Amino acid sequence: MAPSLILSPILLLLLLLLHPSRNILTRAAEGKWDLLQPNIGISAMHMQLLHTDRVVIFDRTDFGFSNISLPDGKCRHDPKDTATPIDCTAHSVEYDVASNSIRALMVLTDVWCSSGAVMPDGTLVQAGGFNDGDHAVRMLKPCRDKSCDWQEINNGLTQRRWYATSQILPDGRQIIIGGRRQFNYEFYPKTSSDDGSYNLPFLNGKVVRSYPVITGGDPRSYPSSGSAVLLPLKDNVGAEVLVCGGAPKGAFAKANNGQFVGALNTCGRIRINDLNPQWVMETMPMGRVMGDMVLLPNGNVLIVNGAGTGTAGWEFGRNPVLSPVIYRPDNPVGSRFEVQNPSPTPRMYHSTAILLRDGRVLVSGSNPHTYYNFTGVLFPTDLTMQSFSPSYLDPKLAYLRPRIISPVSQSKIGYGQQVPIRFTIPTGRLDSDSVMVTMVAPSFTTHSFSMNQRLLILTRADIKVVGRSTYQIRVTTPGSGNLAPSGYYLIFVVHRDIPSEGIWVQII
Ligand SMILES: *[C@@H]1O[C@H](CO)[C@@H](O)[C@H](O)[C@H]1NC(C)=O
Ligand SMILES: *[C@@H]1O[C@H](CO)[C@@H](O)[C@H](O)[C@H]1NC(C)=O
Repeated sequence: MAPSLILSPILLLLLLLLHPSRNILTRAAEGKWDLLQPNIGISAMHMQLLHTDRVVIFDRTDFGFSNISLPDGKCRHDPKDTATPIDCTAHSVEYDVASNSIRALMVLTDVWCSSGAVMPDGTLVQAGGFNDGDHAVRMLKPCRDKSCDWQEINNGLTQRRWYATSQILPDGRQIIIGGRRQFNYEFYPKTSSDDGSYNLPFLNGKVVRSYPVITGGDPRSYPSSGSAVLLPLKDNVGAEVLVCGGAPKGAFAKANNGQFVGALNTCGRIRINDLNPQWVMETMPMGRVMGDMVLLPNGNVLIVNGAGTGTAGWEFGRNPVLSPVIYRPDNPVGSRFEVQNPSPTPRMYHSTAILLRDGRVLVSGSNPHTYYNFTGVLFPTDLTMQSFSPSYLDPKLAYLRPRIISPVSQSKIGYGQQVPIRFTIPTGRLDSDSVMVTMVAPSFTTHSFSMNQRLLILTRADIKVVGRSTYQIRVTTPGSGNLAPSGYYLIFVVHRDIPSEGIWVQII
C-alpha cells in the first residue's frame, strides 16, 4: 500500500468533517426497496386497497393493447374506443398482497383519470372517466376467490366526470366533485329525492372561512402538481393540512418550450379550523413535483415519486426524484424531514403509492405518454411494481414490534366506544408512554393525490400487563362519522414508532 494512502484517524475525521456532502457521521439513509412484480401488465395509474388485502388497479382503455390478456379469452368490443375498438387485453388488474399475484379484471368503458371511494360495506365505487366512460359508475365488490369483477352502471352519473374527486361522507354516501369543466357536484348512491347534480359556484357562494394564499403564491395543483395530506387527527385538536412540492408559476409553459425549471422545495402547513389560519412554510431536502404523500401507520408522512424539474402532463417531467422523504409532523421544525434510500425506478406522471396492511408502501405506475411506449422515449411506460419498506420494518427493530392478538381482523366496532386491544412485544419490555393506536382509512390514489386518506390517533385510556409479554391498551373509537365515516379501516398498535401489522376493522 502506498504510504500516502495511510491516514491517521485524526486526519480521517478531519476529512469527514470537511466533506459535508458525504457526512457519514449522521444516520445513514433508510428504507428498503423490493421489486414485487417485473410486469403487472398495465401501468398503475389508479390504486385502491380493499379489506381483502387485494389492490384494485387500473389505467385507461385507450392506451392501446396492454401486456395482460383478459380472462377466459374475453375481448372488449367498443367501437367508441379511441385506440382499440377490439381489445382482448385488460386495463384493470387485482393484486393479491398475500400471494403476490395479479389477476386481470374487465372494465367495459374508459376509466382514464377517474375517482373512487370505498362504501361502508367495502365495495369500491369508481366514478367517471373519459370518452364513453365519463358518465359511468363502476363497482367492485371484494371477494376472496377470483369471482369478482367490475359491474358497470352506464349512466350512473348525472354529469360527465373526468378528473373528478370522490369523498366518502359521514352518512355513507359519497360526494363526487367537479372534474374537467364541471362546476358542480353530485352524490352516489342516488336516492329518488336526490338524483341530480348541484352547482358549485366556487368562490361565489357563502364564504364560511377564507384561507390566505399559500406563502410564495406558487401553484400546487395540476399541471404544477404538488400533493397534500390531512395530517393525523388527534382528539379535540383541529385538523391540519400539509401541502408539499409543485412547480413554480410559468413552469408548464416553459416545459412546453423545452425548458424544465426546478420543482418547488417547500411545504405549507395550515390548521384549517383556526379562526385566523396561517400557512407555516417548511423546506424539503429537495424539490419535487408530482410526488405522492402516504400516511404511514406511525403518523409520519412518506413523500415519494415524482420529478425534480418540469411539470405534470405528457412528457413534461425531468430529473426523477428517486429518494423518498419521511416527514415527522411532531418533530421540532428543522428536524422533520429525513431522506430515504433511493429507488432504482423513476416514477413520473401517472405514478401511485399506497399503504399496505403490513406497513409496506406499494409503489407503481408511471406513464408520461399517450400510449404504452416502451422504447424510444425518455421515461418508458412502467409496468413494474415495487414495495418500499420504511425503516420500521427493519428486522433489527423486530424486538420492539407489537403484534395485535385481539380484536381479530375483520371485527366490527362502534362509535365512541372503549375498545380493549391486546398485543404482545417480543422482548416483553414495553415503553408504555410510547404506545399509540392508529386507525387508517385506505385511500384511492391517482395523480399525486390520495382521496379519502386519513389517519386517526385514538385516545388512550389505561394500559396494563395481562400475561407474559402481553399487554392490553384501551382506546376510544372515533365519536362519529364526521371523524371517521363508516367503513373499513386498518388499526395499528405503534410502539416506539414501530407499528404492528394492521388489522381490519369495520366501524359502523
Ligand atoms: C407481454 O410482454 C411480453 C414480453 O414483451 C410478451 O412476450 C407477451 O406476449 C406480452 N403479453 C401480452 C398479453 O401482451
Ligand atoms: C407510442 O406508441 C404509439 C402506439 O404504439 C405510437 O404510435 C407512437 O409513435 C409511440 N410514440 C413514440 C414516441 O415512440
